[in-house]
Amino acid sequence: MRISTALATAGPITTIVPIQQVDSKADQEALAALPNSWQLPDIDSLFSAEHGEHLLHLQQQERILLLGVGKNWHFNKVLRAFRQLAIKQAKLLSADVRVHWPQNLWGTELHSCCEAATNGLCQGQYTIAKYKTQAPEAHILSNATVVHTVAEEEQIACQTAATRGLAIGKSQLGIMDLVNAPSNKKTPQDLAKWAEQSAQQHGYQAEIWDKAKVTEAGMEALLAVGQGSPTPPCFILLRYEGPDCADKPLVGLVGKGVTFDTGGLSIKPSTNMHYMKSDMGGAAAVLGTVEAAARMELPVRLVAAIPCTDNSVDADAVKPSDVIGSYSGKTIEIIDTDAEGRLILADGLSYIARNYKPDVLINLATLTGSSVRTFGYQAAALFSVDDALAQQLKSVGSTNGERVWQLPLWEEYGEQMQSDVADIKNFSGRPMAGAITAAKFLQFFTDEHPHWAHLDIAGVAFGDTDFAKGKAATGYGVQLLVDYLEQL
Ligand code: BES
Ligand code: ZN
Ligand code: ZN
Repeated sequence: MRISTALATAGPITTIVPIQQVDSKADQEALAALPNSWQLPDIDSLFSAEHGEHLLHLQQQERILLLGVGKNWHFNKVLRAFRQLAIKQAKLLSADVRVHWPQNLWGTELHSCCEAATNGLCQGQYTIAKYKTQAPEAHILSNATVVHTVAEEEQIACQTAATRGLAIGKSQLGIMDLVNAPSNKKTPQDLAKWAEQSAQQHGYQAEIWDKAKVTEAGMEALLAVGQGSPTPPCFILLRYEGPDCADKPLVGLVGKGVTFDTGGLSIKPSTNMHYMKSDMGGAAAVLGTVEAAARMELPVRLVAAIPCTDNSVDADAVKPSDVIGSYSGKTIEIIDTDAEGRLILADGLSYIARNYKPDVLINLATLTGSSVRTFGYQAAALFSVDDALAQQLKSVGSTNGERVWQLPLWEEYGEQMQSDVADIKNFSGRPMAGAITAAKFLQFFTDEHPHWAHLDIAGVAFGDTDFAKGKAATGYGVQLLVDYLEQL
């Protein structure tokens, strides 16, 4: 997909016209502002501009497609309306698509609407059917040119915004593929290869540590989680610096890269275990963010760490009651081998905190079922020691739809993680406050970083989507972090 200011082809063109809903009718002002030459019939009884509703009007070579965005539109609603259209009504689209934004009805947000629409169309090309012997046809938009028709004076801002929506969308497509990939096509080494290729293509650095290097570095917690698996763990380290950015703050990112979580010896029930191929959703969000930042040449400095491993079961697997070491030097008593994400993050967090001393440290992880029970698929659980940072992430997420909601880090929760035999244990042993006690465990390994935030994305990284009948990757995190970085 490309963005352009003019269409080159003479073929059939679909013009998408997003329309807001006022009361329970399509916005009359918007309809009145449409070109007379379109000769739209009286459509009141046919189209009420509900979110996602569409109406096709054919006129010679032109296909006019009214698209409802509903009431109280915002970035994410516009995005979803366009994404749904691309997924479910691909037949109505053409190889060149125009988006017609009538008059001033979108106010000062017109450019962000162009971004949302472009991003939605881009995401809408996604196909999950990768391993079918009869490959689905390429999406009509995969080779399309998209033109946003706006007033002359809006042209530049809208073009820039649309380009941004496309760049973010491309990185989201890539990480959705990663998260949806089954465990037998996605070893820690496959993630490393993905990072290397992306880094080469988009101009950032990726350093891969194999098991020998991880051992030499003393990442004993990462090694412990990996010791029951035939595929060795690895550690991915990414660096990106925008043009002329030497004096910009350094942002450290850490992502949980568990390529499959069986639970280990504390094995998970089988019913939903297949979803645990998505337990590298935090890693994917970090990979996608660094890639998108590089793709857009954002003026930021990033360092990212992704500890990668399987959590498997065999005679060598770590056992409940084992005491292990960690990169930080602190010892950990394993109570539950299914609380593995916090173990590998402990090593990733202390590695970045100690060696890079970033100004801000953010980690993302599909960390606990508890956060899913709390927020469902609607928000990530946010934990932070820095109220200003928490506020920034909340505000960005409420604007772009990748919501976060804060939970406390009161020290009483930390007391539940004290171990009799080691410096800390990996599970409180009590079926309560699971997302919070997990966050307290992570905090123990941040070297008291004053600007640390943890996002538990277990509910939002993988869930109900328009892409699939079952649960699938959502691409969560890239939009949130890119918008956050741009506001820095
Ligand atoms: N990967 C899971 C968390 C998870 C659950 C992600 C559901 C996505 C959907 C994590 O490693 C885990 O198993 N956590 C346990 C921790 C417990 C044993 C302390 C949990 O939340 O049950
Ligand atoms: Zn687990
Ligand atoms: Zn896990």
